[in-house]
Amino acid sequence: MCGIIGYTGSDPAVPILLDGLKKLEYRGYDSAGIAVQTKDGLHMIKASGKVEHLAALAAQAPDLEGVCGIGHTRWATHGSPTDINAHPHMSADGRFAIVHNGIIENYLEIKKDLEEKGVVFASETDTEVIVQLLAYYYDGDVRKSLTRTIRRLEGSYALAVLCADVPGTVFAARMSSPLIVGVGAGENYFASDITALIRHTKDVIDLEDGETAEISPDSVVIYDRYGSRTEKAPRHILWDIAAAEKGGYDHFMMKEIMEQPQALQATIVPRIKGGQIVLDSVELDMTKFDRILITACGSAYHAGCVGRIVIESLCRIPVEAEVASEFRYRDAVINEKTLVIVISQSGETADTIAALKEGKNKGASTLAIVNVVGSTIAKLADQVIYTWAGPEIAVATTKGYVTQLAILDLFAVWAARKLGRLDDASYKKLVKGLKALPAQAQRALDLSAGVKRLAALYHDRQSIFFIGRNLDYALAMEGSLKLKEISYLHSEAYAAGELKHGTIALIEPGRLVVALCCCERLYEKTASNIQQVKARGATVLAVAQESKRQVYGEADHVLQVPDCHPLLFPVTEIIPLQLLAYYVALENGCDIDKPKNLAKSVTVE
Ligand code: BG6
Repeated sequence: MCGIIGYTGSDPAVPILLDGLKKLEYRGYDSAGIAVQTKDGLHMIKASGKVEHLAALAAQAPDLEGVCGIGHTRWATHGSPTDINAHPHMSADGRFAIVHNGIIENYLEIKKDLEEKGVVFASETDTEVIVQLLAYYYDGDVRKSLTRTIRRLEGSYALAVLCADVPGTVFAARMSSPLIVGVGAGENYFASDITALIRHTKDVIDLEDGETAEISPDSVVIYDRYGSRTEKAPRHILWDIAAAEKGGYDHFMMKEIMEQPQALQATIVPRIKGGQIVLDSVELDMTKFDRILITACGSAYHAGCVGRIVIESLCRIPVEAEVASEFRYRDAVINEKTLVIVISQSGETADTIAALKEGKNKGASTLAIVNVVGSTIAKLADQVIYTWAGPEIAVATTKGYVTQLAILDLFAVWAARKLGRLDDASYKKLVKGLKALPAQAQRALDLSAGVKRLAALYHDRQSIFFIGRNLDYALAMEGSLKLKEISYLHSEAYAAGELKHGTIALIEPGRLVVALCCCERLYEKTASNIQQVKARGATVLAVAQESKRQVYGEADHVLQVPDCHPLLFPVTEIIPLQLLAYYVALENGCDIDKPKNLAKSVTVE
């Protein structure tokens, strides 16, 4: 996510803004900028790259003297990470400067409307429409004009605004993206999170959705969603800086597990308009493909294994999933009738890049599913669909993985509809199922306490089996990898139907078997596998949908996830498995965010 800092007081603003941006670096970003209210109006500097690069530019910029300003670190969503697309953005008349965190879903229609009115835009960002619209509405009253502006916005935003006509005041608004007020003595702050201001004050006010605010050195005024002034007492923060960077969680991994509902929301909601799935600017003639090949590494490959089943099930086109390090060297028979889909959180994984090039060299059309805007894979592929998970810091991916699943599900339904293979009723049911996922993921997170108790019971078991069929088997792969990569316990994902062909020999009293039973139509089959391993003394932890009660009789423990559409349940079923890996690793004293020998992105072979 982007990072925001705003300051007004009596000290030079530039050092305070730059220091605040440094503290927000952990959120991940690719450009940064600041704007300052000077005696000659608003001045700003901004550039792609790191905060220290921005600080070097600031040191050479003579016209940044001022005691009031805003700053921003940008995680690119709309528009590549260039100097022009960096925040702040200024209105064409130079009267307003704005920084923004979030996604304005209707920015194109607003932009078109303003361009028709003669407004000239400088950037490709969704953010710039806000400041140009504010300038367009401005009638001398900033707060009223800002309120009118945000009423036209659809989507999420945390905004901080400077107006040259109102020196010393910073204006703000919040909808779905966090924004806090830091209350100081003779100075006040805005920030995306506590990290940016905790060294100046520990007294903060959390703005709520729909609220606007304005700060000056000696006053903080907050207005509710109806424009009425509202009094909110500050709360006092007890965290230290390190804890603040993790939002109060002990590890980035837990923070990112808990962020999954909002990551899903940001990834799914902007792509469903009026009940129809819209896949950004993707232009693919699905009728020309007789085969789809999905290739990726690690958890991204496991997401591909889920996507393979969902896409083939709906589109009725043969779909394969293969690890990129294998695909790139096997001289596969693919051609212009093949669609190659590459999946990558970082967009920089060497094997996946090579696999993408292999597909292109053989004439295939290529589609990338990536989390980092402007990354190598995003630029190389013919088409790209972004997961808007925000930056993922923990090495073991969680929100990156589930948003990959969400994009694969959206793509499968969109493609099947294009191919005429999905009737209205089925399409509506799937779209409804997709829209329900963020809330269902939120409910699955409620399993956290129960999973923590199970981790305390089983954290020292070795050679844990994860078994399942069909989509459950694809989930078993990811659940097993999560456990291995952060707790270092050996585990194995196995097709439940394969157990009897050899591996059941390893099942002995005390062996922990995690049995995934969310695949509705194969439920009875997996339930019989549970009986087989139970008969040989295994301890069984089952993961099943809430409506399934029979599993109680067989399993030692049952984790119930919310019922989902039969093709969409992987998004919620993976959550207890992520939590299990986390709490087992915690019990075992492992370095959860930086597991030994692992890297967040393997950019070498
Ligand atoms: C590994 C990461 O290094 O690379 C995994 O630890 C990830 O979490 C895999 O799934 C692939 O990375 P990416 O960025 O291509 O999804």
